[in-house]
Amino acid sequence: MSDFEPKIIVFLCNWCSYAGADLAGVSRYQYPTNIRAVRVMCSTRISAHIVLELFKEGADGVMVSGCHIGDCHYINGNLFTERRVKLAEELLKLTGVEPGRLRLEWVSAAEGERYSQVITSFVKQVKDLGPTPVLKDPKLATRLEAAVEAAKSFRSKTLTSKEVKLTGKGNVYEEVLDPKKYDLIIERAIEDEYQKSLILTLSNHEARSVKELAKEMGQPTDQILDHVVALRAKNMLALDHIEGTTPKYKAMVGGA
Ligand code: FES
Repeated sequence: MSDFEPKIIVFLCNWCSYAGADLAGVSRYQYPTNIRAVRVMCSTRISAHIVLELFKEGADGVMVSGCHIGDCHYINGNLFTERRVKLAEELLKLTGVEPGRLRLEWVSAAEGERYSQVITSFVKQVKDLGPTPVLKDPKLATRLEAAVEAAKSFRSKTLTSKEVKLTGKGNVYEEVLDPKKYDLIIERAIEDEYQKSLILTLSNHEARSVKELAKEMGQPTDQILDHVVALRAKNMLALDHIEGTTPKYKAMVGGA
């Protein structure tokens, strides 16, 4: 794959990483030209669903770069960035896309050389992984479609935005949650949201039975049945028709 030139999107926060990139240029540090740099005011502007959408559209790699922890110009924006990138990474793993295609890096305005080094090493890493498999695999594209929706869900957004408070200051009773416990809670919730989104995505394309969904998703039938019951209760999934004795379900577009 020596002639493969990856397409990599790099988000740079205005105050640190973008200035670091600028310094790299002025100082004439060399780095590969595979990147498409996007300047944002703070790295926290990049939500997990934006990253996943880029992979769905065929990006070979995505990097999010911001100020070092403690240096964010919006006080603690990059703490939220950390969690959002983690969310995108976990959803990527669930879809089957290599999580190595995503990276988070802190680069300050004074680190021009470091900027050139992290870009060089990330481009090499993505080159080693090869071209994204998403464009040639419709199943992977469907899974990414579900991952985008899972990242946008109210539950995912709430859990990721509350982490800093709940593991720092604590809840209304001043109970501080153990970060490792919180990680576990988020991991389970994300998997749950992803599976529900995948059920909706698959049955939006074509009515499917619980067994068919379980087989396509590689999950136990009783687990999928639980999700189907929950989605039906929320009017997000409806009975489409019965084939023999098997009910087939279709996603309700614009459900609750
Ligand atoms: Fe740089 Fe927030 S301003 S990460």
